[in-house]
Amino acid sequence: MHYAKNASSLEGSATLLYTARAASMKAAGEDVISLTAGQPDFPTPKAAIDAAKRAMAEGKTLYTPGMGIVELRQAVADRWSEVHNQDFKVENTMVSCGAKHSIANLLEAVVNPGDRILLPKPFWVSYPQMVRRLGGISVFPQSNGMLITGDDVRKAAAEGATGMIFNSPCNPSGLVNTSEMVKDIAAAVRETGIWVISDDIYEDLYYGSGEVPHILTADPGLKNQVALITGVSKTYAMTGWRIGFAIANPDWIRIAGRIQAHSTSNPCSISQYAALAVVRRQAEQDRVLMYNAFKRRRDLICDLLGEVSGLEFEKPEGAFYVYPKILTDKEINSEEFCIALLEKGGLGTIPGSAFGNEGYIRLSFAASDDDIAEAVKRLNGFLERGDFK
Ligand SMILES: Cc1ncc(COP(=O)(O)O)c(C=O)c1O
Repeated sequence: MHYAKNASSLEGSATLLYTARAASMKAAGEDVISLTAGQPDFPTPKAAIDAAKRAMAEGKTLYTPGMGIVELRQAVADRWSEVHNQDFKVENTMVSCGAKHSIANLLEAVVNPGDRILLPKPFWVSYPQMVRRLGGISVFPQSNGMLITGDDVRKAAAEGATGMIFNSPCNPSGLVNTSEMVKDIAAAVRETGIWVISDDIYEDLYYGSGEVPHILTADPGLKNQVALITGVSKTYAMTGWRIGFAIANPDWIRIAGRIQAHSTSNPCSISQYAALAVVRRQAEQDRVLMYNAFKRRRDLICDLLGEVSGLEFEKPEGAFYVYPKILTDKEINSEEFCIALLEKGGLGTIPGSAFGNEGYIRLSFAASDDDIAEAVKRLNGFLERGDFK
């Protein structure tokens, strides 16, 4: 049996793997705390649940238009027009089965085999695999530090990159490009003409002041070459509903829409109605409550980690992750480190190698205060004992 070259070379998702591993140890009765989660530890807001129930009772359970119900596409256009001071229309939007699916559709519309695609490092685990699936080549031009700069974009474009995926706040680091950096990135995008998919899935979990710096805000005239990805998964604790949004120029959306039409068709009708309620801001109290909880826990975990010697990290300004570097006298293999930390230290984390960095681990603070405190205690004990050496 011959399998397709691009497909059979895909790697599994390390985040899902380590999350499942910690969960199965826990299920087997082992004393494990897991800070692997890439999702809020809150229930979905009642407004979304009620809207879903209504949709079911009213028989909204059949196919919808392939690109999503018009009410939701309009609500997405309205909300993100307001966020970015743009004039998005229904034709600029598309609803897919989660932000991951939205990214996959947009990428498939622009990546030809052999195209070089710039990925800032660290990158979300799925980006390089999505690029590989299409026969594209991921490039990582970053000269130093955890955040991409305008010059990195210029360099990659000079070496043939045709597009970039930008993710700020970033999974896994939680770091955010400053507005000065974003302005220079926007200038580089304009100069080079590359396309950008700005993955804004964590935009509402920004702990800095004012609005999160954004390429389109820095240069609104880039709207034809900059696409936005957003959704309800992280902002509204709706990861399981599988709804994500793409906002892009109408041609890009039309092509992506055909890809979706011939693959999944519409995302779940009931989920679309649930998402409509929250996009229309009917769950803002819940959103703010979750946001405040994450912000407080960010401070808690950073304070606690600050007391642990053998670690170095930058305080995250967004999302719900912190990404410390393990300081050792010899190079560590982050996968071996995370497996030992899980098996000997009773703490589940994700190795930095999954995001393109050796020597780092990702901790999620989408967890209770008690779990966060106990997790840091376990990490500290593990490092002190030198259990990974
Ligand atoms: C950076 C980033 N983009 C996209 C997604 C996918 O979101 P969704 O669950 O809506 O597909 C995730 C989920 O972990 C993410 O971390």
